[in-house]
Amino acid sequence: MDKRTFLKTAGMAGLGGMLSFDGLSELVKSVSAVSSSDLAGDENFWATVRKGYKLKPDYINLENGYYNFLPEQVLEKFIGHVREINLQGSYYMRTVQFDNKKAMAAKLATIAGCQPDELIITRNTTESLDMIIGGLDWKSGDEAIMAEQDYGAMLEMFKQVSKRYGIINKVVSVPNHPQTDEEIVNLYASAITDKTKLLMVCHMINITGQILPIRKICDMAHAMGVQVMVDGAHSFAHFKFAIPDLNCDYFGSSLHKWLSVPLGAGILYVKKDKIGSIWPLIAAYERKPDDILRLNHIGTHPVHTDLTISDSIDFYNIIGVERKEARLRFLQNYWSSKVRDLPNVILNTPADPARSCGIANVGIKGMKPSDLGDILYKKYKIYTAPIDGAGVHGCRITPNVYTTTGELDVLVTALTEIK
Ligand SMILES: Cc1ncc(COP(=O)(O)O)c(C=O)c1O
Repeated sequence: MDKRTFLKTAGMAGLGGMLSFDGLSELVKSVSAVSSSDLAGDENFWATVRKGYKLKPDYINLENGYYNFLPEQVLEKFIGHVREINLQGSYYMRTVQFDNKKAMAAKLATIAGCQPDELIITRNTTESLDMIIGGLDWKSGDEAIMAEQDYGAMLEMFKQVSKRYGIINKVVSVPNHPQTDEEIVNLYASAITDKTKLLMVCHMINITGQILPIRKICDMAHAMGVQVMVDGAHSFAHFKFAIPDLNCDYFGSSLHKWLSVPLGAGILYVKKDKIGSIWPLIAAYERKPDDILRLNHIGTHPVHTDLTISDSIDFYNIIGVERKEARLRFLQNYWSSKVRDLPNVILNTPADPARSCGIANVGIKGMKPSDLGDILYKKYKIYTAPIDGAGVHGCRITPNVYTTTGELDVLVTALTEIK
């Protein structure tokens, strides 16, 4: 970074409190000439963004993977929506509720890069993906493919569908350190038979942060006549991609994760030609077979959460997906590169930037992940998510853009000291 930019961001870091949406826009505009990769490590710039996050002083939060809580700018908008809905009551619900929800879905479709008639707002990834698993027209003997590293709720849904319809679930195991994309593609391909109907795959495996070569998996599966459902709980609004470029049939995500929407909203993308073949989770009023709103009836729900989607997208767009992705990858690499080669440390996430972004998982040889999590929390005041299963034994480390390199230095010291 040149000296002038450094001085500018250094000056901003010295400014008072949280910036408004407009103030943040101005800040980002002032560094528009700086590349995302240069800005990724500019602690002054990110210190200004950090001022929007109210953080507990008790611990360093390196568990932003479950819930990427709201910056104050968005929280204030959310509170405003709660007040407005409470003022309008039934009038709101009977007048503009559904138009507004449609507008939110359209705005989401813009950042997802898909058509608005291929995306709905659900309550979370679980609802989105379980609707597809439960809603396909299964016949006894049909086969589905998944991985033991997939999320438990979906694996349980496949088990239920197996008991109910007599389908066969084939579970593969994704290596933590694949050498090539083909290794992963072949792993899934080897499980396909002429009975295979659906392949579920994580875009980013939640326990390790590994990014899988989704486009190649979808192309392979389609060539063999198999539909693909992508679990995008951790990819959407974390790094840059457009859902249609993945060439999947179904994609689900939770908006309270990387988009920092209040709890209670997710997305489901269904490729236009597949909409008509899915049985909805909850029956909707009569609609055309290819109308995605057939899959969107959930009854009365927190509409103020829906409204805040627009504000969360505004915040996300101000930061910019390239800047966010670069910052998250920088933070992960900052700590993991310092400990990867330590003799007592096991990194469960690939170093290749194409195979990871903000999340990584680290273990200590011979130590239970829960014990590591305890020591990190009690001795070093670092909050993480211990994982012990599916070939992954370590703590998941998930910074957010506001995380500082100083905080990550504490993690590096801890991992260097813990034996
Ligand atoms: C990969 C993955 N899929 C699905 C889910 C379920 O998300 P939700 O509980 O928001 O439905 C999670 C949650 O962490 C996840 O990490």
